[in-house]
Amino acid sequence: MHIGKKVQALLDKSPPGYTLAQEFYADPEIFAFDIDAIFNRAWHFVGIAAEVADPGTYLAFSIGRNAAFVVRGRDGLLRGFHNSCRHRGSRICADGHGRSARLICPYHKWTYDLDGRLLAAPKMASDFNSGEYGLSPIRVEVLAGCVYVSLAPDPLDFGDFRAAVEPRLLPYRLAEAKVAFRSSLIEKANWKLAMENARECYHCAASHPELRISYPVSHGIAVSDEQRAHEEAFAQRMRSLGVPTTPANGEWWHVERYALNPGMESISRDGRPVVARRLIASQEPQIGGFWWALQPNSFCHALADYAFVFSVVPLGPEETRIDSTWLVHKDAVEGVDYTVESITETWTSTNLQDRELAENNQRGVNSIGYRPGPYSTEEDFVVRFGNWYRSTAYAAAKALVR
Ligand code: FES
Ligand SMILES: [Fe+2]
Repeated sequence: MHIGKKVQALLDKSPPGYTLAQEFYADPEIFAFDIDAIFNRAWHFVGIAAEVADPGTYLAFSIGRNAAFVVRGRDGLLRGFHNSCRHRGSRICADGHGRSARLICPYHKWTYDLDGRLLAAPKMASDFNSGEYGLSPIRVEVLAGCVYVSLAPDPLDFGDFRAAVEPRLLPYRLAEAKVAFRSSLIEKANWKLAMENARECYHCAASHPELRISYPVSHGIAVSDEQRAHEEAFAQRMRSLGVPTTPANGEWWHVERYALNPGMESISRDGRPVVARRLIASQEPQIGGFWWALQPNSFCHALADYAFVFSVVPLGPEETRIDSTWLVHKDAVEGVDYTVESITETWTSTNLQDRELAENNQRGVNSIGYRPGPYSTEEDFVVRFGNWYRSTAYAAAKALVR
């Protein structure tokens, strides 16, 4: 069956408020559709601007099977390009950070300037016009120090997201932050199972003993009177400091400030700060957390002392990479102001626990006995994720059958 028709037919069988049909979590054709229809159109966090501050510094990455990079030009602009040589398509730089005055393809040494222009292509015919073979650009946006890219030729509008996030995020001074640690974890589960898990805390109280110490795992619709009173007192205190607590959201993003558990100042082993030099200039001890989440695949928490960025990278129908990045103030010194262990331990435990949950989820979903099941009232963000996926996939599928 044509993939567009197949997706539409399966979505028709997947009512809102329920998990999706089995094929959405395992079928290789739907996985390929997801890459094109969902990932190639979205905005993705790839790193922070401070990592590519000097001319010639670059950061190369892969989104699904697509390789791309951002590079700082001599004019100070950060540009993005597909990481595919215009000669025979070789990847130009390996994933990760680097620095180079020119971008030289390792295969036959075609050489590009930092702005993507082709400077040299040895032994081409005399009528070869190098002006036609510059690197193919991708869109780049720098938001309060965070670098986002889109591979789409006509990316989703970034303006509303920027308007909502920038003022809330600027106090964290991420433009001056540094990456303290990065980790990647492979999960044998479809990317949607990883994301559905990441969009709810229905499972958190039982499964995340470390996270629940400081993080409000009962934050949701069915909160206790005590939790509600705590959240209201927090919101009132934030208002008195001029800090917005009202959530904001758009079609593919959501931002919210939340209260940590009573008395907690950070997400850590005991809720105490784990970095002596704070990201945020304010000395207010209980500033809570600022959470911003993007469809299809990421969320971030900015705390007074560090920020945590989580992204899900689809590798195959039942294989996903979980990328985690921890940011601290650029002047925070490892071993003096923080240790990698102290800033990472809570989220690392949580990631490993979530891996087990997602892999187990995949095994059950693959079973002949799987039927789409109903979400709880605690899973409202999973419902939003599902609704967003349904409408985005449906529109893309419809466009394919036209
Ligand atoms: S593929 Fe890049 S120079 Fe040949
Ligand atoms: Fe979890």
